[in-house]
Amino acid sequence: MQRLDNLIIGGTRGIGQALALALQAQQESVLVTGRTVDRPDQEFYKLDLASDDLATHIQKLVANLPPVKRLIYSAGFFQELDFMAIDEASINQMLRVNFQAPFLLVQALLKKQKTLPECVVITSTSQFTPRPLESLYCSTKAGLAMLTACLHETSYVERCRVIAPSGTKTSFYRDTERDLSSFLDVETVVTAIQDSLARPASFEFVKILRNPVKIIVAEQLS
Ligand SMILES: NC(=O)c1ccc[n+]([C@@H]2O[C@H](COP(=O)([O-])OP(=O)(O)OC[C@H]3O[C@@H](n4cnc5c(N)ncnc54)[C@H](OP(=O)(O)O)[C@@H]3O)[C@@H](O)[C@H]2O)c1
Repeated sequence: MQRLDNLIIGGTRGIGQALALALQAQQESVLVTGRTVDRPDQEFYKLDLASDDLATHIQKLVANLPPVKRLIYSAGFFQELDFMAIDEASINQMLRVNFQAPFLLVQALLKKQKTLPECVVITSTSQFTPRPLESLYCSTKAGLAMLTACLHETSYVERCRVIAPSGTKTSFYRDTERDLSSFLDVETVVTAIQDSLARPASFEFVKILRNPVKIIVAEQLS
């Protein structure tokens, strides 16, 4: 393969998987990462983002890739914990998946290919909505959004998108009793991301709200 159109981190389920299938349907090449895959039609690379050897695993992945056009960072996991119940292992896990991994990944790609044409991160409305039981999740999503805004200010990454969906019907809440009936359909989120990518702006921060569904381009730079 001469070029990989889309590297989707966290593309084995939920928003990342739906986006992967939509991009594949447009004849774009897609490689997804995750810990397990349930679709044999997806090009898959196993990558545990919470691993102690995260940097080594990321370097191995990048070493075997052709030049990547678009990095889509969709990995994330749900966690609700009282502030005083958060231990070091929880901090490490959330920091790695939500912040350290995307940071190291962009650096590793840039070391190899000098520039990255597009970087898309899926954050959450949690990046601007403080929630008492989600202090790690909210603060690392805010950090990921700021990291992406900083990258846009460098000459290394040409186009950036920060996509902040509200509650979406995916496997994200699979270990909870949460009622997802009023949540966004994953197709709504995928369409909003594709619409953003189709616009020429070099940076967009897009909020995808629900009840009622509302797509807000909160920031747009060219
Ligand atoms: N669903 C929502 O309500 C919602 C709302 C706002 C924002 N978001 C954000 O949207 C993004 C996608 O979430 P989703 O709703 O699509 O959730 P999902 O269905 O649970 O999918 C999460 C993806 O992240 C990967 N992942 C999680 N932990 C990982 C780890 N330790 N190592 C490697 N991969 C890991 C999963 O892969 P494996 O399981 O194969 O490891 C999966 O591909 C996340 O960043 C999430 O924070 C979701």
